This record gives sequence, structure tokens and C-alpha cells, in this order.
Amino acid sequence: MKEICVIGVGYVGLVTAAGFSDLGNRVMALDINQERVENLRKGILPIYEPGLEEVVSRNVKAGRLSFTTSYAEGLKNAEFAFIAVGTPEGGDGEADLRYVREAAESIAGAMQQPLVVINKSTVPVGTGDWVAEIIRSRLSKPLPFSVVSCPEFLREGSALADFLNPSRTVLGSMDREAADKVAQLHLPLRAPIVITDLRTAEMIKYASNAFLATKISFINEIANICEALGADVKEVASGMGYDPRIGRQFLEAGIGYGGSCFPKDVKALAYMASVQGRNPQLLQAVMDINEDRRRMVIEHVESLAGKLEQSEIGLLGLAFKSNTDDIREAPALWIAAMLRERGAKVRAYDPVAMENAARIMPEIRMCKDPYELADGIDALVVVTDWNEFKQLDLSRIQKLMRKPNLIDGRNIYEPAEMKRLGFHYRGIGRGYNGGNAGAPALAGKKDRTR
Ligand code: UDX
Ligand code: UDX
Repeated sequence: MKEICVIGVGYVGLVTAAGFSDLGNRVMALDINQERVENLRKGILPIYEPGLEEVVSRNVKAGRLSFTTSYAEGLKNAEFAFIAVGTPEGGDGEADLRYVREAAESIAGAMQQPLVVINKSTVPVGTGDWVAEIIRSRLSKPLPFSVVSCPEFLREGSALADFLNPSRTVLGSMDREAADKVAQLHLPLRAPIVITDLRTAEMIKYASNAFLATKISFINEIANICEALGADVKEVASGMGYDPRIGRQFLEAGIGYGGSCFPKDVKALAYMASVQGRNPQLLQAVMDINEDRRRMVIEHVESLAGKLEQSEIGLLGLAFKSNTDDIREAPALWIAAMLRERGAKVRAYDPVAMENAARIMPEIRMCKDPYELADGIDALVVVTDWNEFKQLDLSRIQKLMRKPNLIDGRNIYEPAEMKRLGFHYRGIGRGYNGGNAGAPALAGKKDRTR
């Protein structure tokens, strides 16, 4: 059993705190947000994450997990302190490190014994050194400490499962002994452990997220070409995915990536490259393609429903992906704004994200279920691939709609079946099967076989 303090109880911090306490350690989860801490003490979680509530309550009852706003209390017995505060986007794509700085300063002011400070937040390469410098300059008495980078690879919606079954643990430090201590903490997770230097560990996080975002933009580019040439991107992705060098994951074409990580991390990596005088051409293309995806949805809606003025459009899903209530950088918000700019009224249904979305866009009418959503609308856009949308009574939905236009932004339905039900259906990149463009006329094209 180790004594751990986790600073920040957002997605990353709370999952980390719950996970380590569940492994038998004593964890103090610290947050400067008093209301969050009070709620957590009452068993109310600040976020929706499958399975998390149960693990939190089990470990609170067992006395292994507690919550505080005080650094003195949080660090009293701690041997390890994880920094998991947010690192939002500042201007130009530069990460805003204000909260990391505050956490480092507070650690220096409160620590009473040697401490390993572990950074979980996604931070620009070089931040670990900077955190060490802040702590060193603010310490009231000379106490030994080390900084280790341990980037998180959790996906929202499956964060707890990802914590307990990681693909790997990456640790970076200039102090090998400290990295080994943190490795010990992770041993029960039975995943490969990569130990490297601080900057390389920080870079691994950005490179991983940028690569995954590149895969998504790549398949979206292929989807675009499929639409024009009459091929089906879903089958293309399956056919490609069997090659182990490619892999099937993260080849879902659609309305592009959102969330609290990919958009900001790709931007931040490009920014870091530019500041150093490098030209991040590929990253720029990845971001451009992603923005185009949202515009493409509007084009599909317009081409099916006609002029959007006076029309009413329904969004099926608001969260940036399924199994989360998170709407940070959610494509739904861009799409809703663009539809409204063109004079359309927008309504929406999401199983858990409506409350969060209503705070940002009160002008969206929230519906109690997909059937109220469909009633009298001119087009329905599937924005989030929630499982519960896959088994709707689509025949009822089709009948309720004023015009049966269905834009399936996540390719969750089968084009032939949708046509059979009487929808005017558009999938993404499903040129031939989706009937988006129909098979292009090859006749008249130059015969290249000769
Ligand atoms: C995380 C990572 O920190 C970020 O780097 C990564 O790229 C995305 O995921 P997340 O857990 O989603 O961020 O952040 P958020 O949900 O905003 O939670 C941060 C928490 O830290 C909040 O509860 C906030 O109150 C708390 N906080 C912030 C502190 O306790 N101290 C501070 O000084 C600032
Ligand atoms: C991501 C990383 O996966 C995780 O390792 C990192 O720690 C944090 O960022 P997350 O943002 O929670 O996790 O979600 P993820 O499942 O990766 O999806 C990100 C976005 O990409 C979503 O908007 C999703 O809909 C989209 N996506 C994903 C696609 O459009 N196509 C795909 O094939 C996969």
C-alpha cells in the first residue's frame, strides 16, 4: 500500500484516484473546486463515466479514497503526487499551463517529506523540467523530490477499463530511481512499461494522439474520394484493417474527431513545431480535413433538404462520442451553429449530454426521446454513435418526419435498409452502397487498359 495524492478530479484525475485506490493504495484526491469536493464526499461525481461511481463509492467506504481541497492535508503522508489538472488550449494552439503552474507552486508550499511528482496532464515537451524548476525555487526547506512524466492514454467512456488494462505505461524522468518507484505502482496492471527521459515521454503522448487523429483524417479523406468514385469506405476500412501493419481501429469515417484531447493536442504539437521553425505540414492537413468534415455535413443536409431557412433539423447525439456526457469540441456544437446561421431551427436528443449542451447552446430545443426529436423535422443528422440509436424504431421515425432525410454522420445504419424504409439516406463515404453519388459513369472516361 502506498500513499498517493492526486491533484485535480476531472476525467483523468478522478479515474486515476479511483483506480489506484482500487489497487489497494491510500489516495487523497485533491481539487481546488470546493463544490466538486463537497459533492464527491456526498457520492456525487462531477462527470459521467461508466462504472466509476461504483468504484469510487467502494473505495471511499473502505477508507482508501478521500477528498480534500487542502494541499497540506493532501500531501501530509504522500509519497507520490499526481498532477492531473486541466491543460486547456490557450491562444494559437499553445497549451495553457496556468493550472499546472498553480499545482506545482502549491506542492512546493505544502510538501513535508520527499516526494515523487508525476505529471499526468498533457503538457508541452519540456514542461516536466519547468515543473521541477518551479518546485525547486518555491520549496521552503530543502527536500528531495523528482518529477516523472506519466502521460495518460484514457479514452472517455471507457476510462476506468483503460486504466485497469492499459496498452502500456510510459514513464519519463531524469531520475531513474524515481521512475522505477512509479513503475512499481503500475506493476499490478501487468502492462509493458516504457522508461525513458522526461521530454521523450511527453512527446510520446503527443505523437500517439496525433497519429490517431491522422488515422481518422486519413480515412475521412478516403471517404471523400469513395463518395466521388462510388466505393464504400466502411468496406474499404475493413479490407485495409486486416493488414496488421494498418489495423482496423480508428478507421471510422464520419464527422471528424472532437473531445478534450485530439483537437487541442494536434494543434499544440503543430504549434511546438512551428515555434521551432519546423513546418508541420501533415498535422496541418489533419486539422484542415477535420474542419471540413463539419462543413460536409451541412452540404449533405442542404443537398437533401434544400434551403435551410425555416427548416427544422434534428441532431441525434450531442456528445463528442458515445458513452460520455462530454461536449468539449463536440462536432454537434459546430454543426448546430452552422445550421442556425443558415436559418434552420435545431433540436437535439442525447442520452446524457443534453444538460451540458444546453448550458452552452440554450437555443437548441432538447427533446425527451428520438421520437419527439423526429416529429415534423426536415432532416435528421446522426452525430454521435450511441448504441441506443442502433436499435430505434426507424420506421416510426421515418413516418414522424416531415421530410425523411437522414444524414448518418457515423455510418451506424445500413444504406439498403434505410432506403427500404423510405428514407432519403446519406452515409459518409458510402458512394455506391449509400447511393450518395451512385456509381460514377465510367463510360466516356479515358480507357486506361489499353
Ligand atoms: C485531462 C488532462 O489534465 C489534460 O491534460 C488532458 O489533455 C485531458 O484530460 P481533464 O481531467 O479532462 O484533463 O480536466 P478537467 O475535467 O478540466 O479537470 C481538471 C480538474 O482539476 C478540475 O476538477 C479542476 O477543478 C482541478 N484543478 C484545476 C485543480 O484542482 N487545481 C488547479 O489549480 C486547477
Ligand atoms: C483520446 C485517446 O484515444 C486517448 O488515448 C487519449 O488519452 C485521450 O484522447 P478520447 O478523446 O476520449 O481519447 O476519445 P477517442 O475514442 O479517442 O475518440 C476521439 C474522437 O475521435 C471522437 O470524437 C470520436 O468520435 C472520433 N473518432 C474515433 C472517429 O471519428 N473515428 C474513429 O475511428 C475513432
